[in-house]
Amino acid sequence: MSTAPLPANPDPFPGPQHVAIIMDGNGRWAKARGLPRVAGHRRGADAVRRVIRGAADIGIPVLTLFAFSTENWARPAEEVSDLMGLLRHYLRNELEELHRNGARLRVIGDRERLAADIVRDITDAETRTRANAAIDVNICINYGARDEILRASRSLARKVAAGELAAKDIDESRFESELLTAGLRDPDLLIRTSGEQRISNFLLWQCAYAELVFVDTLWPDFGKEHLERAIAEFRRRERRYGGVGS
Ligand code: IPE
Ligand code: IPE
Ligand code: MG
Repeated sequence: MSTAPLPANPDPFPGPQHVAIIMDGNGRWAKARGLPRVAGHRRGADAVRRVIRGAADIGIPVLTLFAFSTENWARPAEEVSDLMGLLRHYLRNELEELHRNGARLRVIGDRERLAADIVRDITDAETRTRANAAIDVNICINYGARDEILRASRSLARKVAAGELAAKDIDESRFESELLTAGLRDPDLLIRTSGEQRISNFLLWQCAYAELVFVDTLWPDFGKEHLERAIAEFRRRERRYGGVGS
């Protein structure tokens, strides 16, 4: 076997390294067609499949999708139940394809309020795909950034009260280790579909320096080419992190 060093990767993926998407506009997509909202959510699930495949093709290492927020429980019971039904269906039917395509799945959010069978499917999906390395796919379900930050704060406060941690040792990395995204790099590109220009309680800590790209396309119509356009926009941005730039 040759001991010569491996040549450097001639074309390393130039970024973004982590794309997060607020998948919005399913209801409006359905309404525009005179269909019930659930029809939009169904087509939204098709878009999820398409976009994960597209992201893997493009070479994006990490993709995080916002599927259900802690605030979405406020929707009519029937819609919440339709969404949970679709989630159940998705986890059971898409797992094999995700696994075949080398996706490592992780679900981010508070699982306590989810039905026991969904929690079981989530755990199974995570376990089955754990060793995959083509793309990391994180799906945020019952996720809310304020809830996440409060839980992290409570956990740290308990450790300080128990004498296990000194308040002065709480720095960014210690704080991050208590978040649901512990171990995950911050998103560098955040896309929101449907023309809305707000964060809606998504990854507030983690998106401190993400580039925001808002697109008018409704989520059920979103595909690989939209993702590529958002990435092109990202690459045109000058990221400064508080400095003066180049
Ligand atoms: C996004 O589409 C899906 C979820 C938030 C679950 P919406 O259901 O929010 O669609 P609009 O915003 O009403 O069009
Ligand atoms: C944000 O969309 C949550 C998800 C995409 C899961 P919403 O449609 O719930 O957000 P608001 O209510 O318009 O801010
Ligand atoms: Mg919406």
